[in-house]
Order: sequence, then C-alpha cells, then structure tokens
Amino acid sequence: MKVNNTPYRTIWLADDGWAVEIIDQTKLPHNFITVRLENLADGIHAIADMLVRGAPLIGATTAYSMALAMREDASDDALDTACDRLYAARPTAVNLRWALDEMRKVLTPLAPSERTAAAYVRAGEIADEDVEICSSIGDNGCELINRVWQDKNQTGVVNVLTHCNAGWLATVDWGTALAPIYKAFNAGIPVHVWVDETRPRNQGASLTAWELQQHGVPHTLIADNTGGHLMQHGKVDLCITGTDRTTRTGDVCNKIGTYLKALAAKDNNIPFYVALPGPTIDWTLRDGVAEIPIEERGGDEVLHMAGLCDDGVVREVLLTAPGVTAANYAFDVTPARLVTGLITERGVCAASADGLDGLYPELC
Ligand code: MRU
Repeated sequence: MKVNNTPYRTIWLADDGWAVEIIDQTKLPHNFITVRLENLADGIHAIADMLVRGAPLIGATTAYSMALAMREDASDDALDTACDRLYAARPTAVNLRWALDEMRKVLTPLAPSERTAAAYVRAGEIADEDVEICSSIGDNGCELINRVWQDKNQTGVVNVLTHCNAGWLATVDWGTALAPIYKAFNAGIPVHVWVDETRPRNQGASLTAWELQQHGVPHTLIADNTGGHLMQHGKVDLCITGTDRTTRTGDVCNKIGTYLKALAAKDNNIPFYVALPGPTIDWTLRDGVAEIPIEERGGDEVLHMAGLCDDGVVREVLLTAPGVTAANYAFDVTPARLVTGLITERGVCAASADGLDGLYPELC
C-alpha cells in the first residue's frame, strides 16, 4: 500500500541485502520512521515492544529474525536458542509459532554453513506468500461487501465496523479485515468504516485511521464503546475484524473488546465476519476460551496515553491519579457461535470445524 503515494510493504530487505527494515508502528501516526534490524535481539525487540504487530506481520518478522540469527551463529544450539527466544516474544499470535515451525523445517536438516542463505530464502517466501494470501482474503471479503451493496439497491454507503488494526500494517501488505475494504473501495463500491479507537494502545486511532486516510477510504473514529449504539440505530451493515489465533472449531481470539462487539452484533442481527490467513488457524486447539494464552501486558499502557501536543512534540501523559493500578489483558476470545463466517484466502466458511475442514482438508 502507499504512504504519501510511495508503495511500501511493512517489512523488506535493506539495500545491503541482509539487514531487515520495518516501519516503527509505535511512532505512527505522527512520525513515519523506518528501523533497521541487524540481529536476533533487534528482531525480538521489534516484536515484543510492538514496533511491528499484527499476527501475520509478527510471523514474517519472526522468519526474518531467524535469518538474522543464523547470520550470527548457525549452530544447532543457536538455532534452538533463537527459536526459544522468539517464541517467548509474544504469546497470543499463533503465526509466530507457525513461522518458527516453517523455518525449523527448512533449517534443521541443513549443515550450519547452508542455513543462513536458506533462512533468507524461506523468510522472503513467507513474506511474499502473506501478500498473496491477504490479496485473496480481500477478493473473497469484497464479494460480501458487494452483496450488502446490492441488497441496499446500490444506495447510500456500506458501513463496516472494525476493531484494532487488521490492515496492511498488521500484515506484509493488504491486511486481513481491511483487505476486503480496500478491494471494495478500489472497485468503486462506496464504503465507510467505523474505526474503534481500541484502547489501550489505540491501534484503531493511530494505525487503522492513518492507513485508511492514506488510501482515501472514508472512515470515522469512534470511542470503543460506541459500536453497540451504532448497531441499534442501523448505522452498521457488517463488522469485519481480524484475529491473532483461531481454533480449529472457529473460536476467534482477537484484540481485547472484539467479543463485546460480536455480542452487540448478534443482538442486532448484524453479520460479524472475521478475516484470517491459514497460518492463523491453530489446528491443535478446540476451545478458545479455555486454551488460548492471553497476553497480559504492563498496566502502564492503560494508565498512560501519548499524543501530539500543540508545540509539535509527541508526549505521554498519565491519565489517573498517581499510584492507581491497572490490568491489561491484550486479547479476548469470541466463541464461534457469535461469528457469522470466516473470510480466508480459500473462501468464506462457517466458523466451525466443518467449515474449516472444508477449506483446509489437508490440514485438519
Ligand atoms: O496487539 P496487536 O496489535 O499485535 O494485535 C493485533 C490484533 O489483535 C488485530 O486486531 C489483528 O486482527 C490481528 S492481526 C491481523
């Protein structure tokens, strides 16, 4: 996608052919800064401190971090240590584990001297595959948006509500939940997006609104608790969110607050779709609420907020009286019964074991 009319991916190889460059998402929307990753520690820092975030981009960054790790030391021990350290960087997005498995499959049988080159090749493939996958998710989800547009007799606009950032910034390109929106917009379907601000880290306010603005897609930022009201008053035609891990039975783990939107959508008969690439499905799990590890981050993220001050400087402020403590659960699980359908690169299916088995028979 484009930033100030220049096409970008979220992760790429530097001109020297070995370092990895990323967009530092903690600086958006006020500053567009790219960062160079040169070793395993840089990759872990980028993931754990959320310079990169979003399940598919975490997967691609993991793969490139393994390539950087092999450059430093490609021995068997170093391979194991790199996998363990990356695995611990963030717990919920299953694409991280998936990328490690993919890299291990390629690297383990090789001699150490062959591992670095092979790691760069596989990491590049994973990034390219993600772009293809997300583009197909966009095509499949666009059909759903078009159907709503036809049902409305092509009058007004199609209002889509989304939560967190599941746009191109969360992937290598295109996005998951936003890919159908970009495809619909590009096809001339009038779409408007309600963007949940997504406390505490405000991925909606600082990332989703920014990237929709860059592409020219009409959108309106709303406080997190607004969605239910909009749904009751006919102002939402469908919801589309992303997911960080979906069980083989269709339970969806996503940014905290997603579950409440799904409940409100159910109560108002509004379709609630979740867009995801195959690597976000955790085929080992059946019960999302019981089994998916939910990341708990520091309370500081809830207690503080950063923003642009009148003097042009970005500053962080404390929201509460000093000494207040906060809990910070980063994700929640929406049970499959509240999900209208899953939008994947292979098509749209029911959020159920049968639905997923039908699309991924070789994996189930
Ligand atoms: O904590 P984050 O920003 O990495 O979480 C990302 C999300 O939860 C997104 O909503 C997203 O859908 C998952 S990635 C496409």
